[in-house]
Amino acid sequence: MRMTDLIAKKRDGGELSTEEISFMIQGYTRGEIPDYQMSAMCMAILFRGMCDREILDLTMSMMHSGDVMDLSAIEGIKADKHSTGGVGDKTSLVLCPMVAACGVKIAKMSGRGLGHTGGTLDKLESFPGFNISISDERFVENVNRCGISIIGQTADIVPADKLLYALRDVTGTVPSIPLIVSSIMSKKLASGADVIVLDVKCGSGAFMKTEDEAEELARGLTRVGRLAGRKCAAVITDMDQPLGNAVGNALEVKEAIAVLKGEEKGDLLDLCMSIGSLILTEGGLAESLEDAEKMLTEAVRSGAALKKLAEMVEAQDGCGNDVYDTSRLPQAPVQYAMKSERAGYISRIDAEGVGLVSMHLGGGRITKDSGIDLSVGVLLNKKLGDYVEAGETLAIIHAASEESAKQQEESLRACFNLSDSPVQRPAFIKAVLR
Ligand code: URA
Repeated sequence: MRMTDLIAKKRDGGELSTEEISFMIQGYTRGEIPDYQMSAMCMAILFRGMCDREILDLTMSMMHSGDVMDLSAIEGIKADKHSTGGVGDKTSLVLCPMVAACGVKIAKMSGRGLGHTGGTLDKLESFPGFNISISDERFVENVNRCGISIIGQTADIVPADKLLYALRDVTGTVPSIPLIVSSIMSKKLASGADVIVLDVKCGSGAFMKTEDEAEELARGLTRVGRLAGRKCAAVITDMDQPLGNAVGNALEVKEAIAVLKGEEKGDLLDLCMSIGSLILTEGGLAESLEDAEKMLTEAVRSGAALKKLAEMVEAQDGCGNDVYDTSRLPQAPVQYAMKSERAGYISRIDAEGVGLVSMHLGGGRITKDSGIDLSVGVLLNKKLGDYVEAGETLAIIHAASEESAKQQEESLRACFNLSDSPVQRPAFIKAVLR
């Protein structure tokens, strides 16, 4: 088999066979196929597309390029969720304890943040002592005992994706549905869950700008998941503003705790109810979405969901009491209130812009290896559609110094637009695909 023939076949609109896809992925992972040939193939796929069978073969071949998690020692239904990335997205911190309190097992591998989006691991490290790199044995033992563990990716999961994603990033071939689906699903399938729910974001702060694009991606992801024998569902959600009010690691943990305590409602809780209901029904733990919502509501009301978070923190070398009393979590020395210069209705909040402000305050990584300040970030006081008076606080900048807060003030101000007439709040959950 020759890679040049496979490139020409795809360029001319042909379908690659299972063997051809395996030859290409395994050869590329071993370094036998050069980047220039793989780039040409990615571009051919971008223009010609792939049928479902090809996308499934590509996904499976990528999944088998490295380790595959064996969760068979964990009893019960194992669930996972994936978000295509957003600003202020602390969903896992709320959702995972909620569904674990309802009897689903969460054995999750998460990542760190890069650039303007945060990562669950960084957020969890806001709990003093929290250990994201426990052994595989402890991981399995913790999930069997408390129903929940979230760790960093230790195993060599999908090396093909690390190589391919880096190549796509510099060859203009990221926005191809077959390549995105295989990239995301190879990692999710390798992580071993029985039930996978995808949160596909759309809007200015997201990868998919329109609802149609987001739906096409969501359908592709769930189709491949099902063809691979997993239970799969998806939600399409709005990313035209940050999720919740907090952007920044420890600030987001505190917001997640407030939601689990039942103190805060809004888009973050709505999203966790929606994804959680899908997990419980797809996993066979609830008969209907309505029953599932009742179970999740009770898990929050009774304190069982918050207790699950405390159990996980305690089991991973932190102190469970930090969930009930957050005074030991990182706290920035400066809280600078950014006031509105005029009155009006909030008509735009640039999610990516707010994420960048948090990053420049020190809360996000500029390179893969840079350190971060867990205490800094932005707390929004107003969301889309809210009315603000002149002189009223729009957002609070949590910073390491007064100077650093002031340096970011203008950038943060530019993230907000105000209108004289009332603004309709956009529907947050745009679609649920089962
Ligand atoms: N996220 C991924 O993991 N892969 C893609 O290709 C795009 C987004």
